[in-house]
This record gives sequence, C-alpha cells and structure tokens, in this order.
Amino acid sequence: MSAECHPGTAGGPRFAIARCALDVPCEEVAYGELALPMEFRRINGLPPYVFSAMNALKEQARQRGADIVDFGFGNPDLPSPSVAVEKLTEAVRNPRNHRYSASRGIPNLRQAVCDLYERNWGVDLDPDREVVTTIGAKEGLSHVMWVLVSPGDSALVPSPSYPIHIYAPLFAGADVHQVPLEGPGRPGADGTPARPGDGFFEALVETWEATWPKPRVIVVSFPHNPTTACVDISFMESLVSFAREHEVVLVHDFAYADLGFDGYRPPSVLQVPGAKEVAVELYTLTKSFSMAGWRVGFLVGNAEIVQALTKLKGYLDYGTFQPIQIAAIVAMREAPDYPAELRLVYEGRRDALCAGLRSIRWDVASPKGTMFVWAPIPEPYREMGSVEFAKLLLQEAEVATSPGAGFGPGGDGHVRFALIENEQRTHQAVRNLRRVLTKLG
Ligand SMILES: Cc1ncc(COP(=O)(O)O)c(C=O)c1O
Repeated sequence: MSAECHPGTAGGPRFAIARCALDVPCEEVAYGELALPMEFRRINGLPPYVFSAMNALKEQARQRGADIVDFGFGNPDLPSPSVAVEKLTEAVRNPRNHRYSASRGIPNLRQAVCDLYERNWGVDLDPDREVVTTIGAKEGLSHVMWVLVSPGDSALVPSPSYPIHIYAPLFAGADVHQVPLEGPGRPGADGTPARPGDGFFEALVETWEATWPKPRVIVVSFPHNPTTACVDISFMESLVSFAREHEVVLVHDFAYADLGFDGYRPPSVLQVPGAKEVAVELYTLTKSFSMAGWRVGFLVGNAEIVQALTKLKGYLDYGTFQPIQIAAIVAMREAPDYPAELRLVYEGRRDALCAGLRSIRWDVASPKGTMFVWAPIPEPYREMGSVEFAKLLLQEAEVATSPGAGFGPGGDGHVRFALIENEQRTHQAVRNLRRVLTKLG
C-alpha cells in the first residue's frame, strides 16, 4: 500500500498499511500518530465460525416464535450430580475458599482423578507429577500446544475434528496436517455398522511419511467428535508403538471417556504399557458428569509434559475457583455411578433418533460412543452441502443441527446431531423432518 491509495499520508503511512490489510475502505482510515496498527496476527487467518452463523439463524427463528428442536451444540442438558451442587453451595460460603487457589489444582482434586483412573482403567498416576488441573479439556488442549510446538513445527490432526484440535496447534504457531477420518459406515445388511476408525491408522502413517519436517505431535480423540468413530485397545497399542518408535508426542482428548454404548467401554491411551513415555490424555467432567459450565478438566500422563503445562499455567492463571475444585472432588468420589446413568439416557436418545431417521429413510449408523449422531446428507440433498442442508432443516423443519463443514474439510457431507433433546422432543423432530424431506420418498 502506498500514498497512491491514501494520498497525503506522510504523517502515518505505517498505520495506513495496517488498516488496509484489514480491508477497511480508504475513507474510514484514520491517519496520524494516534491510529493503531490493528493487525491481529494469530486470528487473521481464521475463517468465520460456521456455528455462529447457524446460531444467529436459530435465534432469528426463535424470535419469530419457532419451537426449534435443538441438536446443534454438544452442550449437555442434564443436571450435574446433586452432591456436587450441594458441596459447591456449602464451600462457597467459606471465605477461605474465596482466595486465589492453586493453578495446578488442589492436592485432593488431583488425587481424586488418580483414583478415578485407577477405578475405571486400572491406570496408576502420580498426583504430584502426572496430573495438572485444567479449565476444561479445551483450555488444557490449547495450552499444552504452547509447550509442545512453536513456529516451524507441525502436528497431525484428524479431519474432520472438534475445531480446537485443528486450531490449538495453529494458535501456537505450528502447521497442521490433517488426516482423513471416517465415521462408522452405513449399516450392512445385518445392521452392523462398518468398524469406525477403520483406515485411520494407515492414513496417519501415510501422512507422517509424506511430511517433512516430521511432526512433533499427533492429536487424537476417541470416541470421536464429530464422526463418532470409536477404537479398541489394539488401536491405542499401535498408536503408542508408532509414537515411541518415531519419537512423537501423542495428545489424546478423552472427552467422551464414559460415553460408550452397547457394552463398549472406550480405552484410555494410558492403559497401554509404555504410553507414559510419549502420551498425555485430557479427561474432563464436562460430559462424564454433565458439568460443562464448571470448567474442570485434567491433563494426565507423561510427567515432563504435565510439568511443562503446570509451569506455563503458573504464569497464566490462579486456578479454578476453589469451591468448584472441592465440589469436583465430591462428584468423582461420591457420584461414581453418575456417568453410567448418563450413558443410559444418551443411549435411549440415540436409539430414538437413529430409529426415527431410519424410519423416514435417512440411513444413519448408530454410534457406539459420544453424544452425537453423524448423519450423511441423504443422496437427494447431497449437492446442497452441509451448510445449506442444515439451514433447510432449521428453517423448514425447525430442527437445528451442526453442519459438518464446521468441523473441517472432511465434514461437509454430513450434519451432526447432538443428543441433547429428550426422546419425546426427538420424536417431534423426526415428524418435522418427515414432513420436510419429501425427496426421501
Ligand atoms: C472432543 C472434545 N473435547 C473437548 C470438549 C470440551 O471439553 P471441556 O468442556 O472440558 O472443555 C468437547 C466438547 O464438545 C469435545 O467434543
């Protein structure tokens, strides 16, 4: 940009350049010493958040009086365990809990998650060296990338993905190489879905081989949002052995640790002998204990990585409000059966939605895990792409979903239903969809 574009800018050309980079019309540029060089380097390249556009449409529809059946956002609707709520109200009255807390989490909280890992997966963790509390899995994942990668490094990430899996390495300045991940296939003649996650490991190895310099980190998350792909322990064994052989760090986001259906129990990567040499895992109370708003998660596993994040967080925050930490301890210790109760609720909703969709000839596979159904756009509507199709469902059927395009390039052929509506509302949604999706026959 030069004085040709902004004649007479001799007093502040640097500022004018920065403004022009933001695509502001020339007339609006303020010149002179006070104008700011507004360049938000880390977020400049971010595409518009697809989900914000859908939320705006949902809001408009509600304002018109529409009763939207909302499967859009994976925001658990079920109440948190009552013992935790009671403990929180008690703990908040104690002024000693109003001060700054420990950014790594108070000792009993770290011990409680160690006990939970021992109970659920037979994994032994040292609360002092191998656990740090995070402000939910999302914050943990974002900041662990800061200690693992920097400009010039790269990470392998499945595609489609929960958006922060792609953006956390980018925010830390690294490059991202996406590895295609398929969800469960359509049911075969006997009703059994194709094995989810099939082919992912091979694709991962291929991408690794084609990438230089070699990635420092592999991000994975099973059961997987949005595809609902699930893996077994032998997959985790292959992954750990690959990571050890190639000296790469594994970051496993285990947000759906407790949401496996039909008897399937998702494995922790830390169950694999030797995993702690290369792997860390994020566990969160958000889905397992329906405590989304409380923001309690953990990074566990490799001690060096855990210590590195602990050090960074010591600079960044003073820890979660202490009454919340105390109540989180109570949730894990006194409501150990709560995740199993939630699982049954989600399983019932999954069955209602999948059976309903199949009854209107929308072929979907029943997920073995997560709180989502990843539905391929039915053939007669496929050309619309996921954003237009999701808009159609919202505006004509009053059913909100998330367009697959919001989860990365591999997602556009699908929409995602989050199982946050009860069975009765789910039946209502299916009736609305039957009325609108007339091309399904
Ligand atoms: C894969 C995955 N990780 C993390 C999260 C968010 O977890 P938290 O609330 O603990 O930040 C979600 C929420 O949808 C998720 O799907």
